[in-house]
Amino acid sequence: APASHRYSYEDYEATAAWLRSKTAQRPKVAIICGSGLGGLAEQLENRVVFPYRDILNFPQTTVEGHQGQLVFGTLEGHQCVCMQGRFHTYEGYDVSKVTYPVRVFSLLGVRMLVVTNAAGGLNSSFSVGDIMLIKDHINMPGLVGNNPLRGPNDDRFGVRFPCMSDAYDRDLLALAQQTAEGQGIGGFVHQGVYCMVSGPTYESIAEGRALRTLGADAVGMSTALEVVVARHCGLRVLGFSLITNMVVTDYDSTLKANHAEVLVAGNNRAEDLQGLVRGTLAQMPVD
Ligand code: 6GU
Repeated sequence: APASHRYSYEDYEATAAWLRSKTAQRPKVAIICGSGLGGLAEQLENRVVFPYRDILNFPQTTVEGHQGQLVFGTLEGHQCVCMQGRFHTYEGYDVSKVTYPVRVFSLLGVRMLVVTNAAGGLNSSFSVGDIMLIKDHINMPGLVGNNPLRGPNDDRFGVRFPCMSDAYDRDLLALAQQTAEGQGIGGFVHQGVYCMVSGPTYESIAEGRALRTLGADAVGMSTALEVVVARHCGLRVLGFSLITNMVVTDYDSTLKANHAEVLVAGNNRAEDLQGLVRGTLAQMPVD
């Protein structure tokens, strides 16, 4: 495993200062756009765009085909910053790089993090194209030693032993649920537990069964690490998974998880998910 990259408070602050010097926008909401969900960033008004490669100290995108830029702008009256393209551990990024942007957002004054992702369904009542509001997570990399908060704690960000029983904000979750019902999409919106695994392999049948037994409703290769770092520094979190395929948990099944299927399902319901994020923001007071 690569040696854990250590960033100092000054590294994050230098990135925040660089961004502050390039735009007068002061976002209160950060949105991480998952695979196939970058369309949200296109919907911001008064967009100011920074490719990751231009941003001081920012982790560099090395994998072709992934979008990589920060988009500042206004969405439903809220000043926002969107990550169009995130960093994944399966690409080879250390957990400190995956979560680097979250601390920068906090230093910029962001108070709330919206996370979105594409995920495999484990709950047998889910179907492809459903939306899951994340009510809790299982941070599998964190449980086995790859926690982004491992190492010396910087008290300027948060406490040594942060609570995670309140990771996903109950009020925001209820607001998203209400919004879904108001939009008439409640029939395919669920609440559930998201399990993060490192990837890039999809689950074997035994692994899929094990994760379901552990209490996971959906599984994916992102999100939990960013949420841990966000909660450490006090951001409120709201999370959405788009169920792009069902995890195979039956030896008689001839289905095989594949990336193309994930992208197709993403396209079909991405607009509903984007509408749900916008609708939820529209219900929130602007501070
Ligand atoms: Cl089936 N598994 C994992 N780990 N991530 C996914 C997925 C499945 N479908 C979309 N993302």
